Amino acid sequence: MVTAVVRAATMVMLLLLSCSACQAQLSPTFYANTCPNALSTIRTSIRSAIARERRMAASLIRLHFHDCFVQGCDASILLDNSPSITSEKFVTQNDNSVRGFEVIDQAKSAVENVCPGVVSCADILAVAARDASEYVGGPSWKVKLGRRDSTTASASLASSQLPRFSDSLQNLIRLFGSKGLNERDMVALSGSHTIGQAQCVTFRDRIYNNASDIDAGFASTRRRNCPATSPNGNGNLAPLDLVTPNSFDNNYFKNLLQKKGLLQSDQVLFSGGSTDSIVNEYSRDPSTFSSDFASAMIKMGDIEPLTGSAGIIRRICSAVN
Ligand code: HEM
Repeated sequence: MVTAVVRAATMVMLLLLSCSACQAQLSPTFYANTCPNALSTIRTSIRSAIARERRMAASLIRLHFHDCFVQGCDASILLDNSPSITSEKFVTQNDNSVRGFEVIDQAKSAVENVCPGVVSCADILAVAARDASEYVGGPSWKVKLGRRDSTTASASLASSQLPRFSDSLQNLIRLFGSKGLNERDMVALSGSHTIGQAQCVTFRDRIYNNASDIDAGFASTRRRNCPATSPNGNGNLAPLDLVTPNSFDNNYFKNLLQKKGLLQSDQVLFSGGSTDSIVNEYSRDPSTFSSDFASAMIKMGDIEPLTGSAGIIRRICSAVN
């Protein structure tokens, strides 16, 4: 009797396992028949947004990251507050900081015009991140598609699972590890801080109170536009890569070797710990960084997608249908 129960339970487990594996099948050709112009439509929309404001490339890459780390890449970050949704947009790591929502909305409405109800917001985020990287001179890759959109968001998961600028290396490794991303993936992905901006509030502590782990000249330059006392100048911006803030290259890693990482979470990647050798390697070898970044973005895009009949295709990205 007991054996029969164990056998049945094992069968159920195996079925569940094989089903979750078969569900996780994303494919670059997912829309080839149902919306052959999806990718070109998104691309046109994203390129024109970045042409208007170059920083948008950075913002879109970050938006995809902050989507994937919370309930998987399911566009949960795009949902606004409603009676049934507590939006992720207002947790500390996102509030007044993640941007690009209107650009995704525009791309979605352009795609809805050509194929209504077919292409998910989660896929648009993934494609936008790739198109953004490519536009500013970064790597390109084939985006796997077929994600569906969530009907839920989770502010509490966003708060506990998105990394913070003050995190230790150990904590960062743990957070990325919990998403199936190893140290090499984490360092490569952090290399997207080769573009974009950060607000004074995120690096104030580092430039005033961290004398041993920061280049003195760099700290003093950054202090000029970031007053010592909060909330003065909290929102003042500085480039994450001081050398080439508008192009996607490997200067971010060269900066870390010189203790010129802007955020604490940048500098901990090169501060005597287990990721030093990876930072060293990427600083010397831009093409390895490029190909590792592309692979890590694909891996990140694979985090817990909703596929098959799970989730929905939202009509607009900010609300459930
Ligand atoms: C390792 C942990 C990470 C931490 C703690 C972190 C934290 C931050 C912070 C605090 C900012 C500045 C936000 C602001 O001041 O408003 C920022 C910006 C940015 N992050 Fe990260 N980040 C991490 C990893 C990543 C990853 C993995 C990616 C992409 C795959 C990424 C992409 C970006 C980009 C592109 C920007 C600039 C955004 C813009 O200019 O709008 N970050 N990050």
